[in-house]
Amino acid sequence: MKIAVFVSGRGSNLKAILDSPDLKNLIEIVCVVSDKIDCVAFQTAANYKIRTITVGNKDRMISFSELVNVLTELKTDLIVLAGFLKLIPADFISSFKNKIINIHPALLPSFGGKGMYGLNVHKAVFDSSAKVSGATVHFVDASYDTGKIISQSCINISDVNSPEEIAERVLKIEHKLLPEVIKAFAEGKIKTVNNRVIIS
Ligand code: GRF
Repeated sequence: MKIAVFVSGRGSNLKAILDSPDLKNLIEIVCVVSDKIDCVAFQTAANYKIRTITVGNKDRMISFSELVNVLTELKTDLIVLAGFLKLIPADFISSFKNKIINIHPALLPSFGGKGMYGLNVHKAVFDSSAKVSGATVHFVDASYDTGKIISQSCINISDVNSPEEIAERVLKIEHKLLPEVIKAFAEGKIKTVNNRVIIS
């Protein structure tokens, strides 16, 4: 299965995908896409000799409509948003229907939506006094964090002292959950039954 990974920052989830022994013979990352010319994730991509592409309106960037053509030429089967912060245009999403997934660092449908990224999410979770948090992998639709949930994993946060501590615990489970969902995709195990997405 050919995958494109979209990133904006440090790319620890990209690294988790690249290093997953379960994915080694199942997937190929055909490119890493970012809205930033310089990001840590691009260095990781370069270390693995993976093509990098920047998307946006500035110099050395291609537009989302050009990106549709590039990803189609690369025969991309799945697009994984792993910390990609730019809003994806509806046209792009409809070109890859049910082929774009995102990882969110909380238990959706709570703590999602516009502005809910990075530490903002964990601050909101901390301030709510919630006792569990977790990670969600979901399909991407035209709004923020509202697509159907594919899989979730949760952790106890009843004893944490800061949002940063929640972020650290959640990131660990993200690195496990995202490769698991990608594996299920590659094996054709993700289905929709009774309007719910299941892993069979
Ligand atoms: C992760 O917490 C992910 O859930 C969120 O953005 C963060 C990206 O981290 N969407 P990294 O760039 O993969 O380290």
